[in-house]
Amino acid sequence: MFTKLKLITLSLCLFTVQALAADKATEDKIKKLIASMSIEEKVGQMTQLDVREVSVTGPEGVAVVKAEKLKKIIHKYKAGSILNAAGQPMNIEQWGSLISAIQDEALSTEHQIPILYGIDSIHGVTYTAGSTLFPHNIGLAASLDLELSNQIAKVTAMETRASGIRWNFDPVLDIGRQPLWSRFEETFGEDPYIVEQMAVGMVKAYEQDGLDKPTAVASTMKHFVGYSAPDNGKDRTPATISDKDLWEYYLPQFQAAVDAGSSTIMINSASINGVPVHASKHLLQDVLRDKMGFKGLIVTDWEDIIRLHTRHRIAATPREAVKIAIDAGIDMSMVPNEMSFFEHLTDLVKSGEISEQRINESVAIILRLKFELGLFDNPYPEQEAIANFGKKQYQDLALESARATMTLLKNETLSKASASILPLTKNDKVLIAGPGANNLGPLHGSWSYSWQGSNEERYPESTLTLVEAFQAEVGADNVTSFAFTGYDNLANYDTDGLAKAAENVDYIVLALGEGAYAESPGALDDLTLDKNQIELAKAAALTGKPVILVLLQGRPRIVKEIEPAMKAILLAYRPGSKGAEAIVDTLYGKHNPSGVLPFSYPQFTGDHSTYDRNFLTNVQQLNVSGVSFNGHKPQWKFGFGLSYSNFTYSKLSLNKSTYSADDKISVSVQIKNTGDKAGEHAVQLFLSDLYASESPDFKRLKRFSKVKLKPGQSKTVKFELTTKDLSFVNSALERVVEDGEFKIAVGDLTKNFNYKK
Ligand code: BGC
Repeated sequence: MFTKLKLITLSLCLFTVQALAADKATEDKIKKLIASMSIEEKVGQMTQLDVREVSVTGPEGVAVVKAEKLKKIIHKYKAGSILNAAGQPMNIEQWGSLISAIQDEALSTEHQIPILYGIDSIHGVTYTAGSTLFPHNIGLAASLDLELSNQIAKVTAMETRASGIRWNFDPVLDIGRQPLWSRFEETFGEDPYIVEQMAVGMVKAYEQDGLDKPTAVASTMKHFVGYSAPDNGKDRTPATISDKDLWEYYLPQFQAAVDAGSSTIMINSASINGVPVHASKHLLQDVLRDKMGFKGLIVTDWEDIIRLHTRHRIAATPREAVKIAIDAGIDMSMVPNEMSFFEHLTDLVKSGEISEQRINESVAIILRLKFELGLFDNPYPEQEAIANFGKKQYQDLALESARATMTLLKNETLSKASASILPLTKNDKVLIAGPGANNLGPLHGSWSYSWQGSNEERYPESTLTLVEAFQAEVGADNVTSFAFTGYDNLANYDTDGLAKAAENVDYIVLALGEGAYAESPGALDDLTLDKNQIELAKAAALTGKPVILVLLQGRPRIVKEIEPAMKAILLAYRPGSKGAEAIVDTLYGKHNPSGVLPFSYPQFTGDHSTYDRNFLTNVQQLNVSGVSFNGHKPQWKFGFGLSYSNFTYSKLSLNKSTYSADDKISVSVQIKNTGDKAGEHAVQLFLSDLYASESPDFKRLKRFSKVKLKPGQSKTVKFELTTKDLSFVNSALERVVEDGEFKIAVGDLTKNFNYKK
């Protein structure tokens, strides 16, 4: 009988044969093209320029192609790639005419090689008017909901492609272990496993439909590697990272994203142990290409080749900088605002200092991506893609995901007899104050209709501020606003005004934290919440009215001084287009919060350690004879987050007490909602290696699962680990599992077991 299985096998074989034939045909085309290209054309393909090099700002404040500029860039400098937006966010039609004009010009060249346009769509589509913006990654990590982050990436892919763009500089795989860093909000927090899980899902969501399909974009793993760990906390400054730590905490997520098929990678602008990553043959060749097996496109970050000369000072001239970066393994230079890269690389190849074979390799990679993206078939915005733009369900997803990020850190009762402060009831009279209450920037953060996200006038009319969301929910009569436009507007910090406005209300909701910023302009010298905000919080507390603190911020600003006076604290991160509604839904109990901290929230500026710290970090000798073990004392711990329900664990069990190499470790635990409200709960499984030949981490998150439970309902959650989960990277940079005792912890329950090879 000709079985179904045989049929499937046959069609799979046929598919593979066809795919191989297509690959071979593409490879032949690439070879032919390269053989017919001049050195200038090849260098041009490796050149990426800013859109402002081909455009001017038109009457509506958007980028409009300037014919002479475009001709120069395409015909003289033969540029292969353009990036970025300029001015106001453009609508789909405006993007369509910009991209079409650029492609028209590219197709008028001898070889008709289309332009590869790249953009930063970081939490939704940043630069297209009418797009939906989702919570930043730091909040998504708090949700521990992989389904949501995958869906967000899918919508981002569709709305980017609808804008005529097929290359997205996302996802960010940098790990948030340095809370001062101004791009902390773009990270998935401090844990490598969460970063890996979320990033891999996003890479797949971006690419899995097939790059030539109107629902996909090429993803970019960034920023390879160690960008997020600047020693002094400032953006693009040196990091000191041991090789052991690099392999343990910084590289696994890149490896996982390479394995998931990400097409491109962007390099860290800074240096590790004194070596700029753009100049590191070791990291780009030995590690990324050889060990990790990455075959896709390596692009620099902004201006990073010339900065080997101007900032890093490892190249005496810009020409030498080009030589170093190309020798190290860069395929494409995000130049992006001057032409010296083109001139120098052309000269270096003509003089034989860089071989033509070397640049052929990069050009082949670039052309291959253009073929895969279907640009050679049709480089213009696709009608099918445009049809996917701006759907109502994206707004629903924005609300659902913003709600899922909400992390309740405190919820006191007013007296022993009373219930918790939150949720509020609709008849309560509330005063809304603070710089985050009447501004959209703090809800969105970076990459929000502008690079910095701080241009209030660029946000769509339909996006609600916190004050508007309160009014919409409970009616203007119940809401008093003492909040003003402009984050730095001094009126927001008028303590007397606040006290007066609070006279007739039951509660004060204070929205503090940070205004929007991106990259280096967000540099910080002190993690403590700004003084004027601290004063405002103290004044609010002095009114005697219960104060509910809502924190809108991209990184954990220190609140130790005011925390005791706040009756409830909700961390909302950067919740995006529907963030205000999500906050209000949470405060009034329409949504039961389930977010958990994806980082250790520091209590002091000078005392920060990650949850997985080395055990020795716990040791504190504060006087001559006394040693304590409480060296890790965050304000709130990694994984912490309250709910309006209560969850209790029981029956934690393992399938064995001793495991050997090929065994599966099956863990089972029961969880019950013992509260009176339905809720979701993130079950987090931690593992500790009790003793190892090199100091083990205190504990590591190994699995998580989000469960929904009605009041009184129980569920059994099962996890499966392999013995690879017991491994660590040793000083010889080998991943090893050692015999010995381990501990599993879920909630307040623990179980020990042994491993023996
Ligand atoms: C950022 C990158 C971004 C690039 C292009 C740089 O300043 O570091 O993350 O992709 O600009 O906009």
